[in-house]
Amino acid sequence: MQKRLFIKTYGCQMNVYDSARMAELVAPLGYAPAETPHGADLVILNTCHIREKAAEKVFSELGEIRRLKDAKERAGERMLVAVAGCVAQAEGEEIMRRAPFVDMVFGPQTYHRLPELVARAARGGGGVLDTSFPAEPKFDHLPATTPAPGVAALLSIQEGCDKFCTFCVVPYTRGAEFSRPAAQVIAEAERLVAAGAREITLLGQNVNAYHGTAREGGEWGLGDLLRALARLPGLERLRYTTSHPRDVDDELIAAHRDIVQVMPFLHLPVQSGSDRILAAMNRRHTADDYRRTVRKLRQARPDLALSSDFIVGYPGESDLDFRATLDLVVEIGFAQSFSFKYSPRPGTPAASEKQLPDAVKAERLAELQALLQQQQRAFNAAAIGTAMPVLFEKPGRHKGQLVGRSPYLQPIHADAPPEMIGEIVSVNIVGVTSNSLSGIVAGLDEAAQ
Ligand code: SAH
Ligand code: SF4
Ligand code: F3S
Repeated sequence: MQKRLFIKTYGCQMNVYDSARMAELVAPLGYAPAETPHGADLVILNTCHIREKAAEKVFSELGEIRRLKDAKERAGERMLVAVAGCVAQAEGEEIMRRAPFVDMVFGPQTYHRLPELVARAARGGGGVLDTSFPAEPKFDHLPATTPAPGVAALLSIQEGCDKFCTFCVVPYTRGAEFSRPAAQVIAEAERLVAAGAREITLLGQNVNAYHGTAREGGEWGLGDLLRALARLPGLERLRYTTSHPRDVDDELIAAHRDIVQVMPFLHLPVQSGSDRILAAMNRRHTADDYRRTVRKLRQARPDLALSSDFIVGYPGESDLDFRATLDLVVEIGFAQSFSFKYSPRPGTPAASEKQLPDAVKAERLAELQALLQQQQRAFNAAAIGTAMPVLFEKPGRHKGQLVGRSPYLQPIHADAPPEMIGEIVSVNIVGVTSNSLSGIVAGLDEAAQ
């Protein structure tokens, strides 16, 4: 009998990748993915702890899941509930206490044990907690299956973080920095390409700190790895995220210059434009370091577009500090960005500092976001009238339409036949909506006349 699996994924792309691997792990036990938790036999919440709101959502979702589980039990059936990911890692015992109906709690480094945990939970006898940091990386235990990755696939190459920015939970939830061996990464990339991937985004909490064991011995940095992956036939596009400004080395800059598959778009979070705040955050770079790095990258790849993360209202941030952030934004010019109010996280150094009033954070966030949105709109509008190579990924919302991405990660809609999914097609950009572009496939417009 086929059983139904529902996974809800919160947070970053690393969690999206992990969720896909979890689905692969339980497939041999007879679990097939379902679209809703209603009536599911196994529900996994793959959680995020990065900001307070993200973590709160989990407990409210658990309330809903509990009702569904009770309903299933009244019908004489069973629903296993698992909480995975970074909230599980950080607050595992709290979850077991506050939500005793949860059957399994495990962190990002132990989900390879999922089949065993499911078996134990199915036998009954109370919740199972596994938030250890195993000595052997989970990647050595994950099956080398061939998933259906879609045209644009994710591939984790590095995990954890040793940077300890004072606001951030990641070093605690994901553990110490670890890079997968290059041969393992290349083998996984080959499987993804064989299954239809044309674009791969390499993932890591600190992806450009990658230093995996090379095939010939020694170590490879991210630049070396990109070079090797670019040699895989059929792999047309490479991206990587998230990078730390400190770890952008010359090899990586050269990769942007030399490798056509490396897309001219880089997410390079700066967090703040104030050196005082950057130092307090333990970011280990100044605003000028960031400017210099961006200048070098743009010299190597003049059409490089940048995106960033920003935190406003960090403890002690003065109006002057905040102005420095706005100045940096104006100077650099971002194609896209994410910005957040500082959210104190339990166990992190900045959480015990004196906090700014929420009203100040809210005001600064609104001002910063207005500026960032203006830059994003301008960047998108500049595409109108140009032709862009678009990798079509899937059907669009309207009939006859496909959606793909530009080199700069902009979503692009165009009328196109389904056979074009997986192809890179030149699209004349004609319109722009809030976050996406619309266009006409070159050649198709003349053909219609
Ligand atoms: N590894 C990445 C980002 C990890 S978290 C990096 O080094 O930049 C993603 C983003 O969430 C961060 O870039 C930061 O802007 C934001 N963030 C992390 N902790 C936060 C907190 N306590 N409050 C508000 N935003 C936070
Ligand atoms: Fe968090 Fe800083 Fe590590 Fe990024 S570099 S994951 S912000 S500690
Ligand atoms: Fe969230 Fe963990 Fe990713 S805290 S952002 S899911 S690394």
